[in-house]
Amino acid sequence: MKVTMTINHRQRELDVAPGEHLLDTLRNHHILSVKRGCDSSSCGVCTVLVDMKPVLSCSVLTARVAGKEILTVEGIHDFVETLAGYMGHEGADQCGFCNPALALTVYALKHEIPHPTLDDIRHYLLGNLCRCTGYQAQHIAILKCLEECA
Ligand code: FES
Ligand code: FES
Repeated sequence: MKVTMTINHRQRELDVAPGEHLLDTLRNHHILSVKRGCDSSSCGVCTVLVDMKPVLSCSVLTARVAGKEILTVEGIHDFVETLAGYMGHEGADQCGFCNPALALTVYALKHEIPHPTLDDIRHYLLGNLCRCTGYQAQHIAILKCLEECA
């Protein structure tokens, strides 16, 4: 079946199977920044933005997002670069596996809560799990980034 949507600011018409999940559609179309982790709505690494809201792409049917605007990190390059600078400065660099989903979630947070507190950040990022580091340095880097780039 054909499904039309906007992906990273470009209108796309894609061939998808009925019952196909958005994660598979994006990866099948070479958007490989979108990662597969648990594949069961638990880890957050497959997060993309649908109309600026974080969505777990492993759990959303592609047909359900027809006509919507999808963003992956390829579509927010400038913000990702800025955020990476703050993360590096706080020693909070992350692996390439969880980083795209985190950056997208922070981008959505920036849009939804322009001046978040540390608690807002912690709460908003609850669904983005990291298997290897703590969260404190990440959250401080994000707070500084959003305070200084608002
Ligand atoms: S792969 Fe989608 S939540 Fe883990
Ligand atoms: S830094 Fe990527 S999962 Fe922890």
